Amino acid sequence: MTSKKLLRGRLLNFISEPTGPEDKDAFSYIEDGALLICDGIIVGSGDYNEVAKIAGDVEVIDHRPHLLMAGFIDTHLHFPQMHVIASWGTQLLDWLNNYTFPEEARFSDEQHCARMAGEFFDQLTAHGTTTAMAYCSVHKQSAEAYFSEAERRNMCMIGGKTLMDRNAPDNLQDTPQSGYDDSKDLIAKWHGKGRAHYAITPRFAITSTPEQLEMTSALVAEHPECFIQTHLSESHDEIAFTAELYPTARDYLDVYQSYGLLSDKMFLGHAIHLKPREIDALAETAAHPVFCPTSNLFLGSGLFDDAGLRSRGISNAIATDIGGGTSYSMLTTLSEGYKILQLQGQKMHPLRAFHWITLGNATTLGLQDKIGNLATGSDADIVVLDSSATRPMDIRMETATTLSEELFILQTMADDRSIAETYVAGVAQKHSQSN
Ligand code: GUN
Ligand code: ZN
Repeated sequence: MTSKKLLRGRLLNFISEPTGPEDKDAFSYIEDGALLICDGIIVGSGDYNEVAKIAGDVEVIDHRPHLLMAGFIDTHLHFPQMHVIASWGTQLLDWLNNYTFPEEARFSDEQHCARMAGEFFDQLTAHGTTTAMAYCSVHKQSAEAYFSEAERRNMCMIGGKTLMDRNAPDNLQDTPQSGYDDSKDLIAKWHGKGRAHYAITPRFAITSTPEQLEMTSALVAEHPECFIQTHLSESHDEIAFTAELYPTARDYLDVYQSYGLLSDKMFLGHAIHLKPREIDALAETAAHPVFCPTSNLFLGSGLFDDAGLRSRGISNAIATDIGGGTSYSMLTTLSEGYKILQLQGQKMHPLRAFHWITLGNATTLGLQDKIGNLATGSDADIVVLDSSATRPMDIRMETATTLSEELFILQTMADDRSIAETYVAGVAQKHSQSN
């Protein structure tokens, strides 16, 4: 039986990255718009009257006056860190040792993995996020739980078992061989199954021996279809320790580069304190730095140079980095990101901001044909935004006269209370309907 529905509301869809506030070619905005969804795919998109005509007899879900957009995409966060958010008083390396590693060790327990996977995906969709790229723990079973839950919900999710074989507690280490074998098994089982994608996941240089990075290099060569995720230059202490561990590397990025890991499939969390050669190498290899605003502020890591990297043609992704990050909301992430750019005299226009967390992140992932936009043929991952969800927002909206103003209010003031609904492959996640 085919499942068909028509969503009605104000429609905002990006076509390309807006070059400025007046770049009307970069997006379409339809005041009375509609999306026709059939079996999880958008099969009609445009003016309500026109789409309704082709829809025939179909259930109409009227979301007016709310805004319909592509679901948000979070390109860097940690599945086993739901209990790590809001851990007091430390910066990166102490935060990892004191809070994060003990929490991640709990993911050796399958029951804990299963429970947390349910909670994790509930939080993502409650916050309007329909695709994410997450680090699982070192344990294979954490990745199993993650992908199983994503499959159950039919979500387009990317993830991988973390590779880490030193500088962590014994119960949180693999070996170069076991990390390789477990990753191979997980790739064979999950990559390309339904909507799942695998990310080969060496945590960072500090927790991998050269032998492990050698094996990671083999994995990447054997699986060029997979993503690769790691961390880069988040804190000064981390950079100094990395230099001690890899004394022949030209710089931090060179550790990964010398093992052939850099390509447009690679996502490097943080990338804050970069040397000119590292920026050149990012530009040459098309690897993606990932801006993690709430985490960078919370851990006191530093200010991401978005404009500097962009001026070199580097395409930056943006993400929450739960649990160094403090909110699951990509809207809150934009709000804090805006302030980080302000501190450096840089700007984040709301049109660019909303493009970034949808089509922008989708494009860095190479998944723009499926997610991040509302074009016909895309997967029906959709967020419904209420710009007046709270009293302060409602009052502020009284004086908003343009779409950009409304978006900036959402970007600055909204959180999960503004997520009126989230659709994953056409299925409502917050309020069950006849799906
Ligand atoms: N570097 C290595 N592991 C982590 C992590 O879990 N969180 C953050 N923010 N940085 C890291
Ligand atoms: Zn991270």
